[in-house]
Amino acid sequence: MVASKLGFVDKCDMLTLNVRGCDIRYTDAGHGTPIVLLHGFPLDRRVYTDVAARLSASKRVICPDLPGFGESRCDRDFTIASLAEDVRAFIDALELGPVVLGGLSMGGYVAQAFAKAHPEALRALILIDTKADADNAEQKLGRLKMIDLVRSEGSAGVARAMFPKMLMDEKGESNPIVAAKLKQIMLDCPPKTIERACLAMKDRDDFNDTLRALAVPGLMIVGRHDAISPLATAEKIADAMPHGTLPVIHDAGHLAPLEQPAEVADAIEQFANIV
Ligand code: MLT
Repeated sequence: MVASKLGFVDKCDMLTLNVRGCDIRYTDAGHGTPIVLLHGFPLDRRVYTDVAARLSASKRVICPDLPGFGESRCDRDFTIASLAEDVRAFIDALELGPVVLGGLSMGGYVAQAFAKAHPEALRALILIDTKADADNAEQKLGRLKMIDLVRSEGSAGVARAMFPKMLMDEKGESNPIVAAKLKQIMLDCPPKTIERACLAMKDRDDFNDTLRALAVPGLMIVGRHDAISPLATAEKIADAMPHGTLPVIHDAGHLAPLEQPAEVADAIEQFANIV
């Protein structure tokens, strides 16, 4: 066991790789089919700690902190497409070959951008609590307001604003341990990264065509109570993917891997067994 400097104990070995000028911190545990899992916003790889611990009994599970998030160091602007290029370079540096790539929410945008740019490097796609649609005008305005908020109140202001929408219940009372973890993860996200991510998400592509053209199996996992990427959105995504399936995690909101890691790990394992 290794104690992370971010304060959580992580069973996987923690490693660092320089990718396109950024130090990417990641965990890599287990053997077998490589599965790379990308976290959401304003989060980091700790959302997958329990999923990775369970899943790595049968698969190789790699969880990076995206550039600028968590313990990864990177002082440059990014787009969702450029993050997908960082992930491609990371996968190439680790010589993983075609991977099963999964992404939670913003990580799902990056995974879809990867599928669009590098379909040949994909063995299967896992989307979790995410969307394929681009932001509409109102959502874009919301991103700009979030940037104002982080400039005036820092990461704490953003954490406060986002928290009620993240878990199954607004106050996180149904799982205080998960709620405390989530608060800490959001507080740890650097303000500049929050700004950059808001701009990146605001200007991201619509990925519906990418999903319709997907030549590999797809899995869409959704928390039944997801207030940000609701069930209807997930159903649309699963329908768009030619070979898409949709496990619904009943006691979860927007962060199914953090809220119900065993169910999410089992859904991923079953899917990875057949791809
Ligand atoms: C996330 O969880 O990554 C974000 O809520 C995604 C978004 O704001 O679109």
